[in-house]
Amino acid sequence: MYEILTKAVIAEKTKEVVIAAPHIAANAAPGQFVILRNREEGERYPLTIADFDHEQGTITLVFLEIGKSTYELGQFEPGDRVPDVVGPLGHPSDIRGDLNVVCVGGGVGIAAIHPIAKGFRAAGSHVISVIGAKTADLLFYEAQMRTFSHELLVTTDDGSRGRRGFVTNALAELIDRDGATSIHRVIAVGPSVMMRAVAEETRPHRIKTIVSLNPIMVDGTGMCGGCRVEVGGETKFACVDGPEFDAHKVDFDLLMARQRMYSTNESQAMQECRLEEDIEQARSNSRTEDTDR
Ligand SMILES: Cc1cc2nc3c(=O)[nH]c(=O)nc-3n(C[C@H](O)[C@H](O)[C@H](O)COP(=O)(O)OP(=O)(O)OC[C@H]3O[C@@H](n4cnc5c(N)ncnc54)[C@H](O)[C@@H]3O)c2cc1C
Ligand code: FES
Repeated sequence: MYEILTKAVIAEKTKEVVIAAPHIAANAAPGQFVILRNREEGERYPLTIADFDHEQGTITLVFLEIGKSTYELGQFEPGDRVPDVVGPLGHPSDIRGDLNVVCVGGGVGIAAIHPIAKGFRAAGSHVISVIGAKTADLLFYEAQMRTFSHELLVTTDDGSRGRRGFVTNALAELIDRDGATSIHRVIAVGPSVMMRAVAEETRPHRIKTIVSLNPIMVDGTGMCGGCRVEVGGETKFACVDGPEFDAHKVDFDLLMARQRMYSTNESQAMQECRLEEDIEQARSNSRTEDTDR
Protein backbone atom coordinates (compact mmCIF):
# COMPACT_ATOMS: atom_id res chain seq x y z
CA MET A 1 0.00 0.00 0.00
CA TYR A 2 1.32 3.41 -1.01
CA GLU A 3 0.05 6.40 0.90
CA ILE A 4 -0.79 9.63 -0.92
CA LEU A 5 0.89 12.41 1.04
CA THR A 6 -0.20 15.44 -0.95
CA LYS A 7 -2.49 16.15 -3.85
CA ALA A 8 -2.81 19.32 -5.92
CA VAL A 9 -4.62 20.45 -9.04
CA ILE A 10 -1.84 22.01 -11.11
CA ALA A 11 -3.66 22.65 -14.40
CA GLU A 12 -7.01 21.92 -16.04
CA LYS A 13 -7.85 18.24 -15.39
CA THR A 14 -4.22 17.77 -14.33
CA LYS A 15 -3.34 16.61 -10.83
CA GLU A 16 -0.10 16.04 -8.98
CA VAL A 17 0.24 13.51 -6.17
CA VAL A 18 3.22 12.84 -3.95
CA ILE A 19 3.28 9.22 -2.82
CA ALA A 20 5.32 7.54 -0.08
CA ALA A 21 7.22 4.81 -1.92
CA PRO A 22 10.70 4.51 -0.33
CA HIS A 23 11.87 1.49 -2.36
CA ILE A 24 10.84 3.06 -5.67
CA ALA A 25 12.24 6.49 -4.75
CA ALA A 26 15.58 4.94 -3.69
CA ASN A 27 16.13 3.51 -7.17
CA ALA A 28 14.34 6.07 -9.35
CA ALA A 29 16.11 8.01 -12.09
CA PRO A 30 14.91 10.50 -14.73
CA GLY A 31 13.05 8.88 -17.62
CA GLN A 32 11.54 6.02 -15.60
CA PHE A 33 7.91 5.26 -14.86
CA VAL A 34 5.67 3.22 -12.56
CA ILE A 35 2.66 1.00 -13.24
CA LEU A 36 -0.27 1.46 -10.88
CA ARG A 37 -3.53 -0.18 -9.98
CA ASN A 38 -6.14 1.86 -8.15
CA ARG A 39 -7.97 -1.21 -6.87
CA GLU A 40 -7.04 -4.89 -6.48
CA GLU A 41 -9.20 -5.72 -9.51
CA GLY A 42 -8.43 -2.48 -11.37
CA GLU A 43 -6.52 -2.14 -14.64
CA ARG A 44 -2.78 -1.48 -14.74
CA TYR A 45 -1.65 1.82 -16.26
CA PRO A 46 1.70 3.62 -16.48
CA LEU A 47 2.66 7.09 -15.21
CA THR A 48 6.06 8.73 -15.45
CA ILE A 49 7.96 9.52 -12.27
CA ALA A 50 7.76 13.32 -12.55
CA ASP A 51 10.03 13.78 -9.54
CA PHE A 52 11.52 11.75 -6.71
CA ASP A 53 13.17 12.41 -3.39
CA HIS A 54 15.64 9.75 -2.32
CA GLU A 55 15.82 11.10 1.25
CA GLN A 56 12.10 11.57 1.83
CA GLY A 57 11.30 8.30 0.07
CA THR A 58 8.67 9.90 -2.14
CA ILE A 59 7.76 9.94 -5.81
CA THR A 60 5.69 12.58 -7.60
CA LEU A 61 3.20 11.67 -10.31
CA VAL A 62 1.38 14.12 -12.57
CA PHE A 63 -1.58 12.92 -14.57
CA LEU A 64 -4.20 14.20 -16.93
CA GLU A 65 -7.66 12.89 -16.10
CA ILE A 66 -8.26 11.44 -19.53
CA GLY A 67 -10.16 8.22 -18.78
CA LYS A 68 -11.37 5.82 -16.11
CA SER A 69 -8.11 5.03 -14.26
CA THR A 70 -6.68 8.54 -14.20
CA TYR A 71 -10.08 9.92 -13.23
CA GLU A 72 -10.32 7.39 -10.36
CA LEU A 73 -6.81 8.26 -9.16
CA GLY A 74 -7.86 11.91 -9.17
CA GLN A 75 -10.53 11.04 -6.57
CA PHE A 76 -7.91 9.78 -4.06
CA GLU A 77 -7.15 12.17 -1.20
CA PRO A 78 -4.09 12.57 1.05
CA GLY A 79 -4.10 9.67 3.53
CA ASP A 80 -5.65 7.29 0.98
CA ARG A 81 -3.52 4.39 -0.17
CA VAL A 82 -2.92 3.12 -3.70
CA PRO A 83 -2.74 -0.69 -3.46
CA ASP A 84 -0.31 -1.32 -6.26
CA VAL A 85 2.61 0.79 -7.54
CA VAL A 86 5.36 -1.09 -9.37
CA GLY A 87 8.66 0.50 -10.39
CA PRO A 88 10.86 2.13 -11.24
CA LEU A 89 10.41 0.66 -14.72
CA GLY A 90 12.15 1.33 -18.03
CA HIS A 91 15.68 2.46 -18.76
CA PRO A 92 16.70 5.76 -17.19
CA SER A 93 17.52 8.66 -19.52
CA ASP A 94 21.11 8.89 -20.69
CA ILE A 95 21.98 11.95 -18.60
CA ARG A 96 25.38 13.52 -19.25
CA GLY A 97 27.12 16.64 -18.07
CA ASP A 98 28.89 17.75 -21.23
CA LEU A 99 26.05 18.46 -23.66
CA ASN A 100 23.97 21.34 -24.95
CA VAL A 101 20.50 19.85 -24.74
CA VAL A 102 17.06 21.07 -25.69
CA CYS A 103 14.32 19.49 -23.55
CA VAL A 104 10.88 19.69 -25.15
CA GLY A 105 7.70 18.93 -23.21
CA GLY A 106 4.21 19.09 -24.64
CA GLY A 107 0.98 18.88 -22.60
CA VAL A 108 1.22 16.33 -19.82
CA GLY A 109 4.63 15.40 -21.29
CA ILE A 110 5.96 18.40 -19.34
CA ALA A 111 5.77 16.11 -16.28
CA ALA A 112 8.11 13.62 -17.95
CA ILE A 113 10.59 16.18 -19.31
CA HIS A 114 10.82 17.82 -15.86
CA PRO A 115 13.15 15.26 -14.16
CA ILE A 116 15.17 14.93 -17.38
CA ALA A 117 15.86 18.69 -17.58
CA LYS A 118 16.60 18.68 -13.85
CA GLY A 119 18.99 15.73 -14.28
CA PHE A 120 20.91 17.29 -17.19
CA ARG A 121 21.23 20.58 -15.29
CA ALA A 122 22.47 18.84 -12.13
CA ALA A 123 25.01 16.89 -14.20
CA GLY A 124 26.42 20.11 -15.68
CA SER A 125 24.92 20.22 -19.18
CA HIS A 126 23.59 23.42 -20.77
CA VAL A 127 19.79 23.10 -20.78
CA ILE A 128 17.33 24.98 -22.96
CA SER A 129 13.74 23.90 -22.35
CA VAL A 130 10.67 24.39 -24.48
CA ILE A 131 7.30 23.66 -22.90
CA GLY A 132 3.93 24.05 -24.53
CA ALA A 133 0.23 23.33 -24.19
CA LYS A 134 -2.95 24.07 -26.07
CA THR A 135 -3.91 26.90 -23.69
CA ALA A 136 -2.50 28.59 -20.57
CA ASP A 137 -4.97 26.60 -18.41
CA LEU A 138 -3.24 23.37 -19.39
CA LEU A 139 0.29 24.57 -18.71
CA PHE A 140 2.11 23.62 -15.50
CA TYR A 141 5.61 23.42 -13.92
CA GLU A 142 6.67 26.66 -15.65
CA ALA A 143 8.44 27.93 -12.51
CA GLN A 144 10.16 24.57 -11.89
CA MET A 145 11.31 24.30 -15.50
CA ARG A 146 12.70 27.84 -15.32
CA THR A 147 14.75 26.83 -12.26
CA PHE A 148 16.39 23.89 -14.06
CA SER A 149 16.87 25.56 -17.45
CA HIS A 150 19.42 28.09 -18.61
CA GLU A 151 16.68 29.31 -20.94
CA LEU A 152 12.96 28.49 -21.06
CA LEU A 153 10.63 29.04 -24.00
CA VAL A 154 6.89 28.73 -23.44
CA THR A 155 4.32 28.25 -26.18
CA THR A 156 0.55 27.88 -26.30
CA ASP A 157 -1.45 27.04 -29.40
CA ASP A 158 -3.72 30.05 -28.86
CA GLY A 159 -1.11 32.48 -27.51
CA SER A 160 -2.79 32.68 -24.08
CA ARG A 161 0.65 32.23 -22.44
CA GLY A 162 4.13 32.64 -23.92
CA ARG A 163 4.48 32.73 -27.67
CA ARG A 164 1.64 31.64 -29.92
CA GLY A 165 2.25 28.38 -31.77
CA PHE A 166 3.61 24.89 -31.23
CA VAL A 167 6.73 23.77 -29.40
CA THR A 168 8.14 22.84 -32.81
CA ASN A 169 7.92 26.50 -33.95
CA ALA A 170 10.03 27.53 -30.94
CA LEU A 171 12.43 24.64 -31.60
CA ALA A 172 12.82 25.69 -35.26
CA GLU A 173 13.62 29.25 -34.15
CA LEU A 174 16.21 27.93 -31.69
CA ILE A 175 17.90 25.84 -34.39
CA ASP A 176 17.96 28.92 -36.66
CA ARG A 177 19.30 31.15 -33.90
CA ASP A 178 21.98 28.88 -32.38
CA GLY A 179 22.81 26.70 -35.38
CA ALA A 180 22.16 22.97 -35.55
CA THR A 181 25.73 22.00 -34.67
CA SER A 182 25.55 23.78 -31.33
CA ILE A 183 22.67 21.54 -30.21
CA HIS A 184 23.99 18.13 -29.21
CA ARG A 185 20.70 16.50 -28.32
CA VAL A 186 16.96 17.14 -28.32
CA ILE A 187 14.79 15.15 -25.91
CA ALA A 188 11.04 15.38 -26.48
CA VAL A 189 8.09 14.02 -24.52
CA GLY A 190 4.45 14.67 -25.34
CA PRO A 191 1.65 13.47 -27.59
CA SER A 192 2.88 11.17 -30.38
CA VAL A 193 1.93 13.70 -33.03
CA MET A 194 4.14 16.28 -31.30
CA MET A 195 7.08 13.88 -30.96
CA ARG A 196 6.80 13.00 -34.64
CA ALA A 197 6.82 16.73 -35.53
CA VAL A 198 9.93 17.24 -33.38
CA ALA A 199 11.60 14.31 -35.16
CA GLU A 200 10.80 15.83 -38.56
CA GLU A 201 12.12 19.22 -37.43
CA THR A 202 15.51 17.86 -36.31
CA ARG A 203 15.96 15.14 -38.96
CA PRO A 204 17.27 17.39 -41.77
CA HIS A 205 19.72 18.96 -39.30
CA ARG A 206 20.89 15.53 -38.07
CA ILE A 207 20.44 16.54 -34.45
CA LYS A 208 20.32 13.45 -32.23
CA THR A 209 16.74 13.30 -30.99
CA ILE A 210 15.28 11.10 -28.26
CA VAL A 211 11.57 10.60 -27.62
CA SER A 212 9.82 8.83 -24.75
CA LEU A 213 7.10 6.65 -26.25
CA ASN A 214 3.69 6.13 -24.68
CA PRO A 215 2.09 3.03 -26.20
CA ILE A 216 -0.55 1.03 -24.34
CA MET A 217 1.18 -0.81 -21.49
CA VAL A 218 -0.21 -3.60 -19.36
CA ASP A 219 2.33 -5.61 -17.34
CA GLY A 220 5.46 -3.49 -17.86
CA THR A 221 7.68 -6.56 -17.84
CA GLY A 222 8.07 -7.42 -21.52
CA MET A 223 5.67 -10.38 -21.24
CA CYS A 224 2.35 -9.19 -22.70
CA GLY A 225 3.55 -7.45 -25.88
CA GLY A 226 1.01 -4.65 -25.41
CA CYS A 227 3.66 -1.93 -25.73
CA ARG A 228 5.13 -3.25 -29.01
CA VAL A 229 6.65 -0.47 -31.15
CA GLU A 230 8.77 -0.50 -34.27
CA VAL A 231 12.12 1.26 -34.15
CA GLY A 232 14.57 1.10 -37.06
CA GLY A 233 12.55 -1.77 -38.56
CA GLU A 234 12.86 -3.86 -35.38
CA THR A 235 10.14 -4.72 -32.89
CA LYS A 236 10.82 -3.32 -29.43
CA PHE A 237 8.89 -3.42 -26.19
CA ALA A 238 8.70 0.13 -24.85
CA CYS A 239 8.44 -1.04 -21.23
CA VAL A 240 11.73 -2.94 -21.14
CA ASP A 241 13.65 -1.65 -24.18
CA GLY A 242 12.52 1.99 -23.71
CA PRO A 243 10.55 4.08 -23.10
CA GLU A 244 13.16 6.32 -24.79
CA PHE A 245 14.15 5.68 -28.41
CA ASP A 246 15.90 7.40 -31.31
CA ALA A 247 13.12 9.62 -32.71
CA HIS A 248 14.40 9.35 -36.27
CA LYS A 249 13.90 5.57 -36.26
CA VAL A 250 10.43 5.33 -34.68
CA ASP A 251 7.46 4.25 -36.81
CA PHE A 252 5.03 6.88 -35.47
CA ASP A 253 2.19 5.86 -37.82
CA LEU A 254 2.16 2.37 -36.33
CA LEU A 255 2.46 3.73 -32.79
CA MET A 256 -0.54 6.01 -33.28
CA ALA A 257 -2.61 3.30 -34.94
CA ARG A 258 -1.95 0.94 -32.01
CA GLN A 259 -2.79 3.70 -29.49
CA ARG A 260 -6.25 4.05 -31.08
CA MET A 261 -6.97 0.30 -30.92
CA TYR A 262 -8.95 0.38 -27.66
CA SER A 263 -10.57 3.81 -27.96
CA THR A 264 -14.15 2.41 -28.06
CA ASN A 265 -13.60 0.31 -24.90
CA GLU A 266 -11.90 3.27 -23.20
CA SER A 267 -14.72 5.73 -23.80
CA GLN A 268 -17.21 3.03 -22.73
CA ALA A 269 -15.25 2.51 -19.46
CA MET A 270 -15.21 6.26 -18.83
CA GLN A 271 -18.95 6.55 -19.45
CA GLU A 272 -19.60 3.65 -17.03
CA CYS A 273 -17.30 5.31 -14.49
CA ARG A 274 -19.22 8.60 -14.78
CA LEU A 275 -22.48 6.63 -14.59
CA GLU A 276 -21.33 4.95 -11.36
CA GLU A 277 -20.50 8.44 -10.02
CA ASP A 278 -23.91 9.77 -11.02
CA ILE A 279 -25.61 6.81 -9.33
CA GLU A 280 -23.49 7.32 -6.18
CA GLN A 281 -24.28 11.05 -6.25
CA ALA A 282 -28.00 10.33 -6.68
CA ARG A 283 -27.84 7.86 -3.74
CA SER A 284 -26.02 10.39 -1.59
CA ASN A 285 -28.57 13.11 -2.53
CA SER A 286 -31.45 10.83 -1.67
CA ARG A 287 -29.76 9.98 1.68
CA THR A 288 -29.46 13.74 2.40
CA GLU A 289 -33.11 14.28 1.43
CA ASP A 290 -34.16 11.38 3.72
CA THR A 291 -32.28 12.96 6.64
CA ASP A 292 -33.79 16.38 5.89
CA ARG A 293 -37.30 14.98 6.00
C1 LIG B 1 5.62 5.08 -20.18
C2 LIG B 1 4.37 5.89 -20.08
C3 LIG B 1 4.35 6.98 -19.21
C4 LIG B 1 3.19 7.74 -19.09
N1 LIG B 1 3.22 8.80 -18.22
C5 LIG B 1 2.13 9.55 -18.06
C6 LIG B 1 2.12 10.64 -17.12
O1 LIG B 1 3.12 10.91 -16.46
N2 LIG B 1 0.99 11.35 -16.99
C7 LIG B 1 -0.16 11.06 -17.71
O2 LIG B 1 -1.17 11.75 -17.53
N3 LIG B 1 -0.17 10.04 -18.58
C8 LIG B 1 0.92 9.27 -18.77
N4 LIG B 1 0.89 8.20 -19.65
C9 LIG B 1 -0.38 7.88 -20.29
C10 LIG B 1 -1.27 7.19 -19.28
O3 LIG B 1 -0.77 5.91 -19.00
C11 LIG B 1 -2.70 7.07 -19.84
O4 LIG B 1 -3.21 8.39 -19.95
C12 LIG B 1 -3.59 6.28 -18.88
O5 LIG B 1 -3.25 4.94 -18.91
C13 LIG B 1 -5.01 6.50 -19.30
O6 LIG B 1 -5.84 5.55 -18.67
P1 LIG B 1 -7.34 5.91 -18.37
O7 LIG B 1 -8.04 4.68 -17.93
O8 LIG B 1 -7.43 7.10 -17.48
O9 LIG B 1 -7.88 6.39 -19.78
P2 LIG B 1 -8.39 5.50 -21.00
O10 LIG B 1 -9.72 6.04 -21.40
O11 LIG B 1 -8.25 4.05 -20.70
O12 LIG B 1 -7.35 5.90 -22.08
C14 LIG B 1 -7.13 7.22 -22.56
C15 LIG B 1 -5.88 7.19 -23.43
O13 LIG B 1 -4.76 6.85 -22.60
C16 LIG B 1 -3.91 5.91 -23.23
N5 LIG B 1 -3.88 4.68 -22.43
C17 LIG B 1 -4.93 3.99 -21.92
N6 LIG B 1 -4.54 2.91 -21.24
C18 LIG B 1 -3.20 2.90 -21.29
C19 LIG B 1 -2.21 2.03 -20.78
N7 LIG B 1 -2.48 0.95 -20.06
N8 LIG B 1 -0.93 2.32 -21.08
C20 LIG B 1 -0.61 3.43 -21.78
N9 LIG B 1 -1.49 4.28 -22.28
C21 LIG B 1 -2.78 4.03 -22.04
C22 LIG B 1 -4.48 5.68 -24.60
O14 LIG B 1 -3.78 6.49 -25.52
C23 LIG B 1 -5.90 6.11 -24.50
O15 LIG B 1 -6.43 6.57 -25.69
C24 LIG B 1 2.03 7.42 -19.83
C25 LIG B 1 2.06 6.33 -20.71
C26 LIG B 1 3.21 5.58 -20.85
C27 LIG B 1 3.25 4.41 -21.77
S1 FES C 1 3.69 -3.64 -21.23
FE1 FES C 1 3.63 -5.76 -21.61
S2 FES C 1 5.36 -6.10 -22.85
FE2 FES C 1 5.50 -4.01 -22.35
